[in-house]
Amino acid sequence: MSDVYQLLIRELGAARVLRGEDKLYSYARDESPLGFFYPEAAVLAESREEVELVLRLAAEHKIPVTPRGLGTGMTGGALPVAGGIVLSTERMKKVKEVSAEDLLAVVEPGVVLGEFQTLAEEHGLFYPPDPASLAMCSLGGNVAENAGGPRAFKYGVTREYVIGLETVLMGGEALAMGRRTAKGVTGYDLVGAFVGSEGTFGVTTEITLKLLPKPTGVATMLAVFSSIAQAGEAVTAILKKGQRPRALELMDRLAIDHVRPKSQYVFPRDAGAVAIVELDGDVEGLEAGVQRCADACAAAGGLEVFVAKDEAERRRLWQGRRICSPSLREAHRYKVAEDIAVPRGSIPEILRRIERLAARVELPCATYGHAGDGNLHVNFLVDDDPKSAPVRRRIEAAREGLFRETVALRGTLSGEHGIGLSKMKYMTLEQSASLISWQKKLKRLWDPENLLNPGKIFP
Ligand code: MLT
Ligand code: ZN
Repeated sequence: MSDVYQLLIRELGAARVLRGEDKLYSYARDESPLGFFYPEAAVLAESREEVELVLRLAAEHKIPVTPRGLGTGMTGGALPVAGGIVLSTERMKKVKEVSAEDLLAVVEPGVVLGEFQTLAEEHGLFYPPDPASLAMCSLGGNVAENAGGPRAFKYGVTREYVIGLETVLMGGEALAMGRRTAKGVTGYDLVGAFVGSEGTFGVTTEITLKLLPKPTGVATMLAVFSSIAQAGEAVTAILKKGQRPRALELMDRLAIDHVRPKSQYVFPRDAGAVAIVELDGDVEGLEAGVQRCADACAAAGGLEVFVAKDEAERRRLWQGRRICSPSLREAHRYKVAEDIAVPRGSIPEILRRIERLAARVELPCATYGHAGDGNLHVNFLVDDDPKSAPVRRRIEAAREGLFRETVALRGTLSGEHGIGLSKMKYMTLEQSASLISWQKKLKRLWDPENLLNPGKIFP
């Protein structure tokens, strides 16, 4: 087995085949609370040919390979649970093309999402997916996880924008799939299947992304409520009015209190919950839309509505929202960070059930997220030793209880973070044995020996 690593070092140089715990530290973890899993080596590929080489050698020598973007995943998808090789595409950072004429871009997987969005906007274009980690996550990782974010409410998630993929399969065969055209239904939609496959089907080496014209106007408002229940009612009311903001977010009191110290936006002191509503489109139409959303908030019991005065204030507001997850993590010994989604009409009901569950398991719970999509980040906060048996039982009761309530409302375990390692054992709550078995067959088609990101998604 060590021959393979020597061969890789000979081909790529020791600086790109990392070995030893000190060098592997940052490749053994991700943004999940699951801890460290050390691989034998981390390989930093710089081209498709190098990815082919790694996957060919790994298949020949039966070494597991875990693909990795920039490690911002929250469910352990990039953790090398079976050891072997972590194959990082972080150095494949070329933007090969941005075409305003064809409304698309062709990129390598290591391009950082936020940098790509800025570049697209310089061309008068717009790439909507905007997970909170946008300044430090890669497009390859976004494709693997089918990343979402606040703007998914109007614009949909990553899958809607990936029209072509070049992927290397286990064994080293490169496969180009998809198209460059706006429409196209030739053959099966393999691009759709590979996006969101959490690195279990292949390793992405090139992505063709659909782009939109950049909207000319954006308005962002924040409505203050005394309770999360009222904010949930406001979300439902905005939806019922037929409004289509580009983002419709909620934060409860505990989430707001946690971000306050580092938030550039000063959240109102007495806020029991806030809804953040962002609209885009022609500048002329925006004011009427803002007014309609403000009316819906007021009717649901909103106390106040603030509209961002300028771009700088908008940015400050979003910064406050985006630091929810790190602020909660820094303040507590452990956090159970969930990512459930329910049908939109069930938002008020799931919020009630979460409150009851938190009281039952005696864990404080901060809830925020993409309420317009019914996608809530539910965070149970733990300050006692999470490894002690009684605390572990409460954490387990919180997670299982949340998933059971979610599924009872015909929701799903994950709106956008994926299943990875952390939610694997709950898959059977949502999906039938037969559906799981068909998905496993699909996995075997691309990776018969289960060497590519093994131990993920399915129990
Ligand atoms: C977010 O919306 O902030 C991200 O998905 C991260 C999180 O779960 O908190
Ligand atoms: Zn999110």
